[in-house]
Amino acid sequence: MKKLISAALALLLAVGCTAPAANNVPEQPEEGIDYLVLVNKLHPLPEDWEAKVETVKVTNQLGNEVEVEKTAYEAYQQLKEDLEKDNVFIDLDSVRRTVAEQQEIVDEFTKEYGAEYTAKVVAKPGYSEHHTGLALDVYLIIDGQPVYENDEMLQHPDLWEKIHSRMPDYGFILRYLPGKEHITGYAYEPWHLRYVGVDTAREITEKGITLEAYLGAVNETDVSIDYGTSELYTQEVREEMAILIKCRFAALEGCELHSLRYVGDESASAEKLAWLNSLKDYDSEYGKAACFLMDFHTPKENSGSFDPDHEYTDYQWWLGCDADGDWDIVDYSNQE
Ligand code: DAL
Ligand code: ZN
Repeated sequence: MKKLISAALALLLAVGCTAPAANNVPEQPEEGIDYLVLVNKLHPLPEDWEAKVETVKVTNQLGNEVEVEKTAYEAYQQLKEDLEKDNVFIDLDSVRRTVAEQQEIVDEFTKEYGAEYTAKVVAKPGYSEHHTGLALDVYLIIDGQPVYENDEMLQHPDLWEKIHSRMPDYGFILRYLPGKEHITGYAYEPWHLRYVGVDTAREITEKGITLEAYLGAVNETDVSIDYGTSELYTQEVREEMAILIKCRFAALEGCELHSLRYVGDESASAEKLAWLNSLKDYDSEYGKAACFLMDFHTPKENSGSFDPDHEYTDYQWWLGCDADGDWDIVDYSNQE
């Protein structure tokens, strides 16, 4: 099994961890930013981003300063004006965030809602699309009153529908689509707009796909997941584990997912946990362990260190839960 996981890692490193294969992406100019940049659970903010991005700082109606990428802000202003003609009012809530600001959000959410929920809705510092300045969280203004709590905003699907229908004409996509959590890694967020430019936004929206799929950085497979039963982990926790695995699997280009299932609580035994911790190459220890099994098929060519055109069955994905309560896929690339 070690070999298999090492093989997965090698392939990931080859195809998935730096930049996605860009089937659809036009050549980007050397100067300036890439408006199609992919930042998600697998892809951190590019290192040269800060040096290249041009931003504007504006004060929202709540008196808070927000920083937005320049072109995205111009597009947002036009979208906002258009919506106002239809008596729909929005304002900017949270746009560009530094890594430190993202950490503050993670800390606040963890304190209030716990680590499990936080991992589902908030990106790890360095891996948030908000670092780009191209991701805009908006809030609603209803009868002159701001509505910015997530739960409350979700109570207005009619307004979001109007907002979402206008977005592509101004270059925005809805980034975290309902039903695509296993690809984006996050729950549905009607308020999170991402600027990609008009042509791309229209195409992505028309096709109803994620940015990951558009960029060829994912294999969309609707496979049913067998969560089994567990006395240790709630269904919600097992769903989060499966999302992590599917996000990671999505970067294995050309691989087709056939099934995914929770092994059962025997994968969480003290013995397995000790074994998992013995594989780690850094000090902190996992407090919990779990394993899922996967069947998948590799592509005919470019299968990295996997055998090409091969059906892998019962492929093991091990997860560990760290001291902060975050679940991670266990990587042990340095193991033979
Ligand atoms: N809420 C999105 C996923 C973020 O934290 O970047
Ligand atoms: Zn957001």
